[in-house]
Amino acid sequence: MTNVERITAALQAYMKAEMPEELRKAMEYSLLAGGKRLRPMLCLSACEMTGGQLETALPLACALEMIHTYSLIHDDLPCMDDDDFRRGRPSNHKVFGEANALLAGDGLLSFAFEVMLSEGPKHVAVAPRYYEAAAEIARGAGVNGMVAGQWKDLANEKNPSADAATLTDIHTRKTGALITAAVLAGGMAGKADAAEMKALRAFGAHFGVLFQITDDLLDVEGDEKTVGKTLGKDAAHEKLTYPALYGVSASRRMAEEEARLAEDALAPFGERAVWFIELTEQTLTRTF
Ligand code: IPE
Ligand code: IPE
Ligand code: MG
Ligand code: MG
Ligand code: MG
Repeated sequence: MTNVERITAALQAYMKAEMPEELRKAMEYSLLAGGKRLRPMLCLSACEMTGGQLETALPLACALEMIHTYSLIHDDLPCMDDDDFRRGRPSNHKVFGEANALLAGDGLLSFAFEVMLSEGPKHVAVAPRYYEAAAEIARGAGVNGMVAGQWKDLANEKNPSADAATLTDIHTRKTGALITAAVLAGGMAGKADAAEMKALRAFGAHFGVLFQITDDLLDVEGDEKTVGKTLGKDAAHEKLTYPALYGVSASRRMAEEEARLAEDALAPFGERAVWFIELTEQTLTRTF
């Protein structure tokens, strides 16, 4: 079994919990629709790289994917980005209606914490920092992390005077914060030392911005079928993005610079960082 398969199997198992069938359907529609599983993979890989056991990080990884999926469902709602396609299929609210999509997102968010906290007693003996990892995920997802970034993203639509610092801050929060939390949580589950945690934090910050710059670029020049989302929406909404502020080729150069900084941050891990280096390189040329 690959780690991606392990994550999907664990998500499927968690989704067997007792809940109304219609709510389960709406949550599973988005959670089990594919997706790259980037954040849970970052968490498991950071745990492995720092010498931890995969099973310890698995509930944290699943929670990250639930939180990420909730953020996508809400991001697509008419009151936010108003997107009709996601992960190669109609957006959650197009199938289940807005109120149910809102609740499917709420369900995934609260279920993520239910999973992390109720699994805790099984894992703290192996990784005493398990709950610290859960708190890190809460911070990454929360009011000074992803939610703050989403707030700022919307506040800067159609803002002709938005500046570079605002753009970096939006990307750092809306996308970088949960990505950083994923690697930090994995490091905590792997009992990473202070120097390793510092390296993981720096990697997460640069990789997170890199990932959102390439998301912005895909919106401009990607292939709709391959990406699995409606493209050209950022320009239509006059979003503050890298291509909008700097143009496509400067954005590419800035993505390369973030990739270099992300890889540099991994130096303390030496050979052990090979998966992260490859991921960073692949992200520069990703098509979905
Ligand atoms: C999309 O994330 C939203 C961003 C933060 C850029 P992903 O590109 O990781 O989406 P999935 O999980 O593969 O669908
Ligand atoms: C969203 O950024 C980041 C989230 C926290 C969901 P985007 O709005 O650019 O993500 P996509 O392009 O819709 O996936
Ligand atoms: Mg958005
Ligand atoms: Mg969007
Ligand atoms: Mg986008």
